[in-house]
Amino acid sequence: MKMTRRTFLNATAATVALSAAPVSLDVSKASDDVLEINARPAQQRLYSPDHPPSDLWTYNGSAPGPEIRVKRGQRVRVRLTNGLEEPTSIHWHGIRIDNSMDGVSGLTQDPVMPGESFEYDFVAPDAGTYWYHAHNRSWNQVARGLYGAFIVEEDIPAFDREHDLTLVVDDWLLDRRGVLNVASLGSMMEWSHGGRLGNWLTVNGESQPSLNLSSGEAYRIRLINAANARILEIDPNRFDAKVIAYDGQALPQPETLAYAPLLIGPAQRVDLLIRPSGPGVIPIEEISGDRPYAFANLQIADSENPNPQVPKLYPNELPEPDLSQAKHVRLDMTGGAMGIMVETVYQGRKLGRRDFARTGQVWAFNGIANLAEEPLFRCRRGETIVVETINRTAFPHAMHIHGHHFRVIGRSGSSVREQNPWRDTFLIGPDQTTRIAFVADHPGKWLFHCHMLEHAAAGMNTWFEVT
Ligand code: C2O
Ligand code: CU
Repeated sequence: MKMTRRTFLNATAATVALSAAPVSLDVSKASDDVLEINARPAQQRLYSPDHPPSDLWTYNGSAPGPEIRVKRGQRVRVRLTNGLEEPTSIHWHGIRIDNSMDGVSGLTQDPVMPGESFEYDFVAPDAGTYWYHAHNRSWNQVARGLYGAFIVEEDIPAFDREHDLTLVVDDWLLDRRGVLNVASLGSMMEWSHGGRLGNWLTVNGESQPSLNLSSGEAYRIRLINAANARILEIDPNRFDAKVIAYDGQALPQPETLAYAPLLIGPAQRVDLLIRPSGPGVIPIEEISGDRPYAFANLQIADSENPNPQVPKLYPNELPEPDLSQAKHVRLDMTGGAMGIMVETVYQGRKLGRRDFARTGQVWAFNGIANLAEEPLFRCRRGETIVVETINRTAFPHAMHIHGHHFRVIGRSGSSVREQNPWRDTFLIGPDQTTRIAFVADHPGKWLFHCHMLEHAAAGMNTWFEVT
């Protein structure tokens, strides 16, 4: 995959934070069983204590917002109150949810207007690592900080809280003062190229935090990529970690990766299992640049009597696609800088090259930019769908299907394993073709889009309907 080189700011200005534990909201501890989430502006330092704070948009005053923790099968009620100056809504990314609760402004609900509230009420069917984020003008709202972790615990949590660490990684574009660059939001350069790429990584809103671990004990590290467009590259073998889940769904067995780097696209999650053998510092590095960049450090202390148990995860039960009866759909991706531009229709009208500045539309799926009257396809509930995606653009993309997990069953230029993991977002490189399969088992209108949020805004957005 061709990648843009990383150019992060000089790391020396940052200081090591003491702890990066996010605030958490536990449903069982909510007073009337309703979690309150207020979307509102707040100031937060992103770079170093010596630099001014940034004006962010937050859930309950911080980015990321509170980590929401629920139990599998438990009813979740969240009251979103909009304290912003523009409409918003919350999408529960990766959760196989009832369509009316999916949070897509303009498709599954009306956006929540400034000063108003909306109550989400749903059950999370699968244990695992998910996240929630704004889903109205996401390229703007997520870039400003509207996201948080959503953790669904197993019936009996596999790891206790001390051994269960969430790392929400974001890639911010800071200006020379170390402050969020707001002026460049919506720049056509970002929309037509690789999306908004930042120059500073934070973990749970902090710069290069240290996490305290004990040697000889097993930890679960939940990595969530909350960036608008940055693909993170890590090598779990550098710190003896195994992969135990992708996009929330546990693997049957912990897996030692036979290749590197592991790419974590925007919106993707990877859960790692790590059992440090001795005291010391283990950096978790992003390795796409010329030099590895430690975005977090694990401080390992000697443990007197380590607990030798390595907890086991059990995969959720998902409906297995039946390829012999599948409905086949093709998705041709075109457009963008240096890409093929086919005749493109936007809101029922043909677009000319010069319409780009007016509409902001520069990418297309099957020659259509953004949501059309007609869906990409309609299907019956329970049908197996195979989508063949052909990337005819010069950029990689991170394609996300709402409401369903799928298996990648074919990918040009790389071997696909026998048993492919479930995912809700797949990466596709320039000139690559990828086939995914899933059972469309939730009725409703579902979004299918690139999670590089500028690409989605600029046309890479479609929908399908399950009846
Ligand atoms: Cu995580 Cu449509 O998004
Ligand atoms: Cu894209």
